Amino acid sequence: MKNIAVLASGRGTNLQAIIENIENGTLKANLACVISDNKDAKALERARQHNIEAVYIDPGPKKTWLIPEVEQKYVQALKDRNVDLVCLAGFMRIIKTPLLEAFKGRILNIHPALLPSFPGLDVQRKALEYGVKFSGCTVHFVTADVDAGPIVTQAAVRVLDDDTPEILAERILKEEWRIYTEAINIVLSGKYRIEGRRVIRT
Ligand code: GRF
Repeated sequence: MKNIAVLASGRGTNLQAIIENIENGTLKANLACVISDNKDAKALERARQHNIEAVYIDPGPKKTWLIPEVEQKYVQALKDRNVDLVCLAGFMRIIKTPLLEAFKGRILNIHPALLPSFPGLDVQRKALEYGVKFSGCTVHFVTADVDAGPIVTQAAVRVLDDDTPEILAERILKEEWRIYTEAINIVLSGKYRIEGRRVIRT
């Protein structure tokens, strides 16, 4: 069984889905630890409730990324636990070289829009205001360019006329919980190859 780690900064509903899918056998992985840059993250509490190691690593001085010395602590924590695949789930930091190099091609992220549309933050509101009729979610490999790595899988959801950003976010989340597990299973199985930007199942 391969080891995964989840990095999360907040409420952790994707983490919760991962935990439950491991427990019910849908997700074939061992969750080695949950790491957060926020000591009050609900995600850490969810981990503890399921007897999963919950690790807080002080993010240091910067708001949107970690200085190399700090990011190295994240790398060390992941290496110490023999993590094969790092899953970002609402981790509010831009990933830089130490982690990208140590886990090259082994970091996934979930994003609540159909990339390459609406990268960044507050994307359900942006999708709604833009007037798209479909939005959705994307699981992609993490590269140095934010929200731009090769796409493992996506799911589309309809945008309805009376949606608010919150209602749309809720509809997208239900798909996130499903496709993150699907994507992790694909990547852990190793049955894919990357051609250019394309992730092709083998
Ligand atoms: C999700 O919408 C995810 O796509 C985005 O951050 C949010 C995290 O939600 N990257 P949760 O903490 O998993 O509930």
